[in-house]
Amino acid sequence: MERLIVTEDGSHSLYSAQYNQQYHSLQGALIEAEHIYINLGLRPILENADSPVFVFEMGFGTGLNAFLTWKLADLLQKNIYYVAVEAFPISGDEASSLNYETLSGHSNLIALHDCPWSVDFPISDHFTLNKQHIKLEDFTTTNNFDVIYYDAFDPRAQPELWEEEIFAKIAAFTNTEGVLVTYSSKGIVKRALRAGGFRVERHKGPGRKTHVLKAIKI
Ligand SMILES: C[S@@+](CC[C@H](N)C(=O)[O-])C[C@H]1O[C@@H](n2cnc3c(N)ncnc32)[C@H](O)[C@@H]1O
Repeated sequence: MERLIVTEDGSHSLYSAQYNQQYHSLQGALIEAEHIYINLGLRPILENADSPVFVFEMGFGTGLNAFLTWKLADLLQKNIYYVAVEAFPISGDEASSLNYETLSGHSNLIALHDCPWSVDFPISDHFTLNKQHIKLEDFTTTNNFDVIYYDAFDPRAQPELWEEEIFAKIAAFTNTEGVLVTYSSKGIVKRALRAGGFRVERHKGPGRKTHVLKAIKI
């Protein structure tokens, strides 16, 4: 059971004792998710899309990124196919305790947690979810993705998930000019992304965080 915490913007997050890490920035889970994954990563591509946008998430966790993605898909009436991997799913009770519905103005977070694993599940007319209860290291796909949300625990906690090999694996299923967004702007992450096949841009982070990364598949 992960411990529920409240971040600075009032939104909940979880604390993982296994990794000694929280799932989101303590400065605000909701602000972080909207800034990095939605506004920097997804929105520019979704607004210009005339066919379904394929999104891949590393680390489904609380479902917050998927929830905000579903909200934007419905708002813009654009179709999204969303694949997320998660090695250690949270429980239904943990998901039910999160306050994202009240704060985001979108409903039914639990639908994302209750839906079955490993199938394409239509959550709405515009949002189809395929959750995979699997480690990223073991994930394979025949799809090509336009947007990658890279939301693993910090490189100090999971160094093996921030290496060239893992980004090369992701690059292999990312469309050319597709984007990978992540909260970590560490030098080792930039170097691993470049070596893995991405061009790296540094952007202003949410709140007091100076930088986050947007990497474009070459
Ligand atoms: C920083 S949390 C972010 C979770 C999620 N994006 C959210 O907003 O709640 C990292 C997530 O990656 C999961 N995870 C850790 N190692 C993994 C692995 N090797 N493959 C897939 N998921 C993993 C954790 O269980 C956790 O849910």
